[in-house]
Amino acid sequence: MIRVLFVCLGNICRSPQAEGIFADLVGQAGLDQAIAADSAGTSDYHAGSLADPRTRAVSERHGLDLRHRSRQVTHADLEQFDYVVAMDRANLAILQQLAGGERRLRDKLHLLRAFDPSAESLEVPDPYAGGPDGFERVFQMCRRASEGLLQEIRTKLG
Ligand code: 4NP
Repeated sequence: MIRVLFVCLGNICRSPQAEGIFADLVGQAGLDQAIAADSAGTSDYHAGSLADPRTRAVSERHGLDLRHRSRQVTHADLEQFDYVVAMDRANLAILQQLAGGERRLRDKLHLLRAFDPSAESLEVPDPYAGGPDGFERVFQMCRRASEGLLQEIRTKLG
């Protein structure tokens, strides 16, 4: 089983969105038994909460029902997951600190948009304080990059 963890700050906007999109692509590919997805936040600000209502509304429009509840990322996650995929550099830096000097753990850390060769930026911007358009843009960015990530994992799986 390949385990993928998506990570943002609050785990209520970007990373549960990416998790839901990626899990849906995995299901469509018939790979539920081979690839598992989860998400977490570098903060515990919203621990226990469902995704932001604006994230859930965009997801629903695209046919996805997000059930994830926010939780904070832990050092154990870095051991247990194979890919730990950050939404932006600030959250990547926090994950790098959590990994400490351990090369084995640091090698699991990625930026989501690095898997989208057409991306004009490597970051998924935080939509929390902005308008509803930001949430649709986040959805599109996460979808394109999730397709690339799934392709990479499928290549690895052979
Ligand atoms: P997320 O968005 O990191 O994509 O879940 C945010 C959600 C909440 C906050 C910041 C970003 N906050 O400061 O509460």
